[in-house]
Amino acid sequence: MSSRKSAITDYPVLELIKNRWSPRSFSPEPVKKEILFSLFEAARWAPSAYNEQPWHFIVAHKEDNKLYPLIINTLVPFNKQWASFAPVLIVCVASKFFSHNGKPNSYASYDCGQAVAYLTMQALSHDIYVHQMGGFDKESLRNNLKIPDDKEIINVMALGYRDTPDKLSEEMKKTELAERQRKKMADWTVI
Ligand SMILES: Cc1cc2nc3c(=O)[nH]c(=O)nc-3n(C[C@H](O)[C@H](O)[C@H](O)COP(=O)(O)O)c2cc1C
Repeated sequence: MSSRKSAITDYPVLELIKNRWSPRSFSPEPVKKEILFSLFEAARWAPSAYNEQPWHFIVAHKEDNKLYPLIINTLVPFNKQWASFAPVLIVCVASKFFSHNGKPNSYASYDCGQAVAYLTMQALSHDIYVHQMGGFDKESLRNNLKIPDDKEIINVMALGYRDTPDKLSEEMKKTELAERQRKKMADWTVI
């Protein structure tokens, strides 16, 4: 499988950071529960405003004929095409209000992002890749999963072991094999 996806960095970074990317071709191999527990344990130790830990994760395994379709059917057609390969889908949901005073938590989605980053890096250490998605119908997903109004849906993630790009459409295969791109550091910071 392609090795060009490893980031070509200007400065040294951790191998895990270099090697993380968002694939679309996933192997049908299931992800063991013990490994999923490690992923969530990593998320658990992410920092958060007031140590609120506003994240919640809803996990659907492909074998689950009820929950998995309730999530996959809310994805935009492009995402549905490739995410259907993933053995696991995870929905990240944030509690919108602080538990200590009931006030709006303006950092809730930010904190979820950090928890997802921790989960993602832990996943990679088990050779499991995470591909996040914003391309889904939020209201349908809220209805399908009966998510209450005091929670905000942050994203949907597909995760699993990688597979050959050959099973993707030609367009997706190109992206799967393409070198990863980033802005230059000078575009967003001055040291
Ligand atoms: C919040 C968020 C939403 C995203 N939504 C989608 C999506 O709907 N479909 C998709 O194919 N990729 C999606 N991506 C993946 C990004 O396109 C990808 O992370 C970016 O192009 C950088 O590539 P890399 O993760 O391989 O480094 C999303 C990523 C994030 C963080």
